[in-house]
Amino acid sequence: MKKKSISLWIACAIGATFSSTINAEPGENTYKQVCAACHGAGVLNAPKFGDKAKWAPFIAEGQVILTADAYVGVRAMPPKGGNPNLSIEGFSDALVYMINRSGGNWKPADKTTIAAINKEIETRKAGMNKP
Ligand code: HEC
Repeated sequence: MKKKSISLWIACAIGATFSSTINAEPGENTYKQVCAACHGAGVLNAPKFGDKAKWAPFIAEGQVILTADAYVGVRAMPPKGGNPNLSIEGFSDALVYMINRSGGNWKPADKTTIAAINKEIETRKAGMNKP
């Protein structure tokens, strides 16, 4: 009996430490303010936050490609998540936050990754202008 309650206490302590780490992440606020409206509940068939099976094929596209695709907008997914003021860095952080809770393990995009994403975005824009 005594042993059981101690391990329960340890589990709670670990849980508390873990959730305070989550709160410190840069993309969390943007996710909640911009993305959660659709991705929280899966509105318009948006891949739902935390749904590993739904996110797996998207994660497989890789960070650069997926971030560029989503930032430009795909089908029912609006460009910049529907917020015209959202920078690529802010968008990327929010996406990393969502991915890492949906089966992925991405690092926040550094300068090199942001540059690669911007290059992909330019390629997509150029493609859109073609007849
Ligand atoms: C207005 C609703 C809405 C908002 C707000 C929104 N999304 Fe989406 N998102 C969608 C929908 C719907 C899809 C599925 C698109 C499809 O496949 O038809 C999607 C798909 C995606 C995808 C997969 C793109 C692909 O390659 O198919 C990513 C990544 C994504 N969203 C990231 C984000 C992030 C990050 C935010 C916040 C910054 C965000 N979304 C905000 C509706 C939304």
